[in-house]
Amino acid sequence: MSIHFLLCLLMVVVVGHTVQAKIKTRRSLENAVQKAMKKQGSRHEHDLSTYAANVILDTTQILLDKGFTIEEVTSDTIAADIREILLVVGVVKESPKLRCKPNHPYRTLNGSCNNLDHPEWGQSVRPQRRVLAPAYEKGSIGTMRATGINGKPLPNPRKVSNVVHSNTKGVTSNSTTITLITFQFGQFVDHDIITTPLIDDETCCGPNESKDCIPIRIPRGDPFFRDG
Ligand SMILES: *[C@@H]1O[C@H](CO)[C@@H](O)[C@H](O)[C@H]1NC(C)=O
Ligand SMILES: *[C@@H]1O[C@H](CO)[C@@H](O)[C@H](O)[C@H]1NC(C)=O
Ligand SMILES: *[C@@H]1O[C@H](CO)[C@@H](O)[C@H](O)[C@H]1NC(C)=O
Repeated sequence: MSIHFLLCLLMVVVVGHTVQAKIKTRRSLENAVQKAMKKQGSRHEHDLSTYAANVILDTTQILLDKGFTIEEVTSDTIAADIREILLVVGVVKESPKLRCKPNHPYRTLNGSCNNLDHPEWGQSVRPQRRVLAPAYEKGSIGTMRATGINGKPLPNPRKVSNVVHSNTKGVTSNSTTITLITFQFGQFVDHDIITTPLIDDETCCGPNESKDCIPIRIPRGDPFFRDG
């Protein structure tokens, strides 16, 4: 037997193993997506993005429970595989290819074609890019963080808001220097870079409170809201 032959044999065995592992991983991913879809139940066509987000969240959790690490689940190869599976089962839809007019004098209303190399970047109804790694509540992949790194509960968000935005200059709604555009600009920055409301029409008060609600307690002595 030549050394060449042995090497080839070894390659076949190694490649065979890799292919096997790939098939096994692919099956696990498909099973996880199916399970997540079952868990979510019926989908509402008008709210596909919420449905997709929940399926992806559940898929991630199922894979973590199966022993995948978060680095594996979010790796480019596995993320691409999951995306492909979600396309096949119709949880996400391939968006039609955008055709840009490079010399068009105006911007598009929905932000498409701002970047001619990546026409979909910054378009409306697209996921926003994370600036920092996610830091959810310890051991969770989607629960709002309520515990600090020192293990103590984080301060009440309303309290933080009141401290950070304290009206030290005593601006009133009759201000002659601050107009409505201030609020509009804040809203624009807010919705453009940090938050896209995904969940509509949720009942967040009373007995039928949705699981997606995260109530904030009003601290005693709040300058705007009554004591809660
Ligand atoms: C954005 O607008 C372009 C036309 O300017 C259209 O082709 C595209 O589908 C729109 N995208 C979304 C997400 O509505
Ligand atoms: C704003 O002006 C109106 C009319 O002059 C007055 O009734 C109201 O109390 C003022 N509001 C504040 C917050 O100063
Ligand atoms: C809560 O949901 C139940 C069942 O759907 C319904 O009968 C009830 O009226 C709801 N209550 C409120 C306060 O909306």
